[in-house]
Amino acid sequence: MANREAQVAQPDLSHLSPVWSRTWTLIVERGEGAYLYSSAGQQYLDFTCGIGVTNTGHAHPRVVQAVQEQAARLLHGQANIVIHTAMLHLVDELLRVVPAPLDTFFFSNSGAEAVEGAVKLARAATHRPNVIVFQGSFHGRTNATMAMTTSKTIYRAGYQPLAAGVFVAPYPYPYRFGWDEETTLRFCLRELKLLLKSQTAPEETAAIVVEPVLGEGGYVVPPDGFLPALRELCDHYGILLVADEVQSGFGRTGRWFAVEHTGVVPDILVMAKGIASGLPLSGLAARRALMERWAPGSHGGTYGGNAVACAAAVATIQVMREEHLIENAAEMGQVLMAGLRQIQEEHPEIGEVRGRGLMLATEFTDSSGEPWTDRARAVVRAAFDEGLLLLTCGSYDNVIRWIPPLIVNTAQIRDGLQRFQRALVRTGER
Ligand SMILES: Cc1ncc(COP(=O)(O)O)c(C=O)c1O
Repeated sequence: MANREAQVAQPDLSHLSPVWSRTWTLIVERGEGAYLYSSAGQQYLDFTCGIGVTNTGHAHPRVVQAVQEQAARLLHGQANIVIHTAMLHLVDELLRVVPAPLDTFFFSNSGAEAVEGAVKLARAATHRPNVIVFQGSFHGRTNATMAMTTSKTIYRAGYQPLAAGVFVAPYPYPYRFGWDEETTLRFCLRELKLLLKSQTAPEETAAIVVEPVLGEGGYVVPPDGFLPALRELCDHYGILLVADEVQSGFGRTGRWFAVEHTGVVPDILVMAKGIASGLPLSGLAARRALMERWAPGSHGGTYGGNAVACAAAVATIQVMREEHLIENAAEMGQVLMAGLRQIQEEHPEIGEVRGRGLMLATEFTDSSGEPWTDRARAVVRAAFDEGLLLLTCGSYDNVIRWIPPLIVNTAQIRDGLQRFQRALVRTGER
């Protein structure tokens, strides 16, 4: 199945901005479940999910039906002018899945917009200016979130100086540091506390913003004590804890939200991506008392909480619950993890297999343990030729992330693993 692109005549793409970077050029016509179909009729096993978005699979019939019905009823009802019933239904559904006592919601369109909203809420509520983020985090590409994003210089280079008031602490990434979890955690917490002594005083720090599982920065699950320690520190100093669950939320890790693995409830939970199966929707959840410290009119947007997107989100949550997709993510995650570990035994270039649920990673390192970017990229490219879509991540772009849809079954996982193995063998031969 070598070089799929060569078999397809490429259309003129010169009118699309080159700012969208791509590993391949794939023109798709439709998607169904775990598969995408190109305009040339070829089938691809999609283990990217549009970067962790289509968790219910492509075009889940119930989500499609909800979108169609809502589109025929009301496409748009701006939230300052009307409250549409789709938003109220979504709130009912979200109240069943977000951790208590988070009970009040604000909706926007993209992950970055929601993170910016969370920072604005934290600043407004605390009257403090600064935020702390973690090394390797990805929070978005808008002006403010770009300043909070430290996963790769490509997101910042050429745009500096960036918005002020952002301070960066190390994320506990044991494999990168080469330490055990305990040593890594101790070091990172010590550095965080040093930051509060040396760069941003607690009384000028509004929020600590954290990805409960580091996403674009390398799919890193922090040691168990990390989030509880952040919670404790925040409570001690009156700093708000913001969990950016844009990538890790909505069942991806085998729980509705990754914070649930830790028992920690953030002050603000940021959601997007998987919430609406592909329609643009993001949101914040917080306690009512906190939301009430956000002055009416001081934040908003034309499209936030769009009616069709809300209807898609309602259907997404119902599908996830009724089709047991959270349970499936946990179960299939184990199958995938076991398969990847087995492959790792024959491929020492895979330095580590890690992750939670269906948010897994294979990190490529060379014989001296240094990040092996070219190899990871070559494998993704070869996997594409095998009809398997994968994405890289990590500051060195040497990690392959595994994010199949949560509807994935054992046969599809095994198929994906076989294609991956063939890609590994082919790139190893070069
Ligand atoms: C953890 C996290 N936060 C925020 C964002 C930004 O989301 P968006 O691209 O929808 O603005 C992303 C996107 O990948 C993300 O992974």
